[in-house]
Amino acid sequence: MIWKTKITQMAEVRYPIIMGAFAAISCAEFAAAFSNAGGLGIITAINYPTIEDFQKELEKMSRLTKKPFGVNFTITPPYLAKKGRGKTEQSYIDFLDKSIEKGVKVFTTSAYQTPHLGKKIKDAGCYWFHKCTTMKHAMAAQKRGADAITIVGLEGTGFKNPNQNTTLVNITMARRLLSIPIIAAGGIGDARGFLGTLAMGADAVCLGSSIIATEESPASKRWKAQVLNQDIFDEKYYKKIFHLELKDSPIASMAIGHVDKILPLKEFIDNIINEAEQILKSWGYKGEEFSTL
Ligand SMILES: Cc1cc2nc3c(=O)[nH]c(=O)nc-3n(C[C@H](O)[C@H](O)[C@H](O)COP(=O)(O)O)c2cc1C
Repeated sequence: MIWKTKITQMAEVRYPIIMGAFAAISCAEFAAAFSNAGGLGIITAINYPTIEDFQKELEKMSRLTKKPFGVNFTITPPYLAKKGRGKTEQSYIDFLDKSIEKGVKVFTTSAYQTPHLGKKIKDAGCYWFHKCTTMKHAMAAQKRGADAITIVGLEGTGFKNPNQNTTLVNITMARRLLSIPIIAAGGIGDARGFLGTLAMGADAVCLGSSIIATEESPASKRWKAQVLNQDIFDEKYYKKIFHLELKDSPIASMAIGHVDKILPLKEFIDNIINEAEQILKSWGYKGEEFSTL
């Protein structure tokens, strides 16, 4: 089946599936495998202390995949940046220039507002996908000119906010309140979550926790085993995710309830697509093309 949405068109990918940003566990092998599987692999720039390290990773990406991939700029909020931690918008300018020089067309930004980077991305003729956790921030990013918005629901992880809504509320409301394409994130890890969020109004999904335990992920064996064995209905775990009791973060989200085997990324994504196509057929869908355009 051919999958067509505004996001597959912008990112020039086969499936409307975008890789999450990953502090600590993002690397070229992981992102290239995601792109080769038909999604949009993402290199998370915060993991590279210098422009030279980052450039080497971009070059490795170009050797590992001929498919499109994107770059994420996670902005450290000012209260942490003041302590000299992480990266500010300004510190990514060279990284952006280098990525554009290497032909990257899609940039995801996250964690804090990024008006200057966003403008530079757009001035270069590239796409700016901003990720946020609340509708207020989503609407502000749209006003600033973002080309698409990723909204992370409460059932997600990596990026939390005390005023966060669930993916169901976020995406159905975003469809009403935003005019630009929407990428659903938070708790998605199988074909039903994928199709469900498209039905809610998303133009793509963003996968984070559900791919931590894939073969190409650089997460440790111990962490992958934890992902496979986590009881997502356990009260303590529930409180970490829904009551933000995240002192021992990073933690994988509710999406890992769908993960019971370590698979190559291609197989993981193929399974989602094949099952989604089966579900569509079981509902009477007869077309060879699925389009939300
Ligand atoms: C280990 C881990 C590290 C993450 N690091 C980042 C990050 O550095 N920047 C960011 O924007 N999001 C980060 N995230 C969030 C993901 O990019 C994605 O938005 C989120 O995982 C989606 O929800 P899900 O985990 O339920 O799929 C991280 C998530 C995980 C699991």
